[in-house]
Amino acid sequence: MVTLAPLPQTLSALDVMRDAPVIPVIVIHQLEHAVPLARALVAGGIRMLEVTLRTPVALEAMRLIANEVPEAVLGAGTVRSVSDLEASAKVGARFFVSPGYTKAIGVASKSMQLPLLPGVATGSEIMQAQEDGLTELKFFPAMQAGGLAMLKAWSGPFTDIRFCPTGGLSLANAPEFLALSNVVCVGGSWLTPQDAVDSGDWTRITQLAKDAANINRPAKA
Ligand code: 3PG
Repeated sequence: MVTLAPLPQTLSALDVMRDAPVIPVIVIHQLEHAVPLARALVAGGIRMLEVTLRTPVALEAMRLIANEVPEAVLGAGTVRSVSDLEASAKVGARFFVSPGYTKAIGVASKSMQLPLLPGVATGSEIMQAQEDGLTELKFFPAMQAGGLAMLKAWSGPFTDIRFCPTGGLSLANAPEFLALSNVVCVGGSWLTPQDAVDSGDWTRITQLAKDAANINRPAKA
């Protein structure tokens, strides 16, 4: 079991991003997978868990993780509306990740005092999020929307914005993203392959989490 440092009571988006090099994007189809899956990731040193609101059991899975895996920090992914934020906070989500940005979710997450990593893919979306006070953003879908070259281009005009690129990332290409000055962490689903989840191969998932936790991440300002 990996020992993880204590976290502040109130998390910022930067706390969520700095905790580990990778935020796993998790899709839970069967409720009974929720707790062992979360435990397997935490055992490998990854505790910021983005559980996506993409399946009928997602909210109940989140509730179980929040109640039964206190070492994990539960996040809700694929949030697209204020009601998604409210429903997931109600079952214990402590941060949010969205595939895009709307002012409504920006404002709501602020009033809930819970960090939101909203997805952006254009300069205008970055400017809108920044106008609403958000400077830590998810770059989504990272590979499809320009990958490394796009992040390098953004580092000029958006020097004060920090990104979590997600979409098409893997253990192989994550290090080159993490080497960029404007990237704090990356997101990806590769830590929880569906076949490993379906077969209950938690040992493999712990190993994938360990490999992700050990990716070299240069210190950033
Ligand atoms: C998603 O929202 O599905 C994430 O971007 C995960 O993408 P990945 O499967 O390419 O890691």
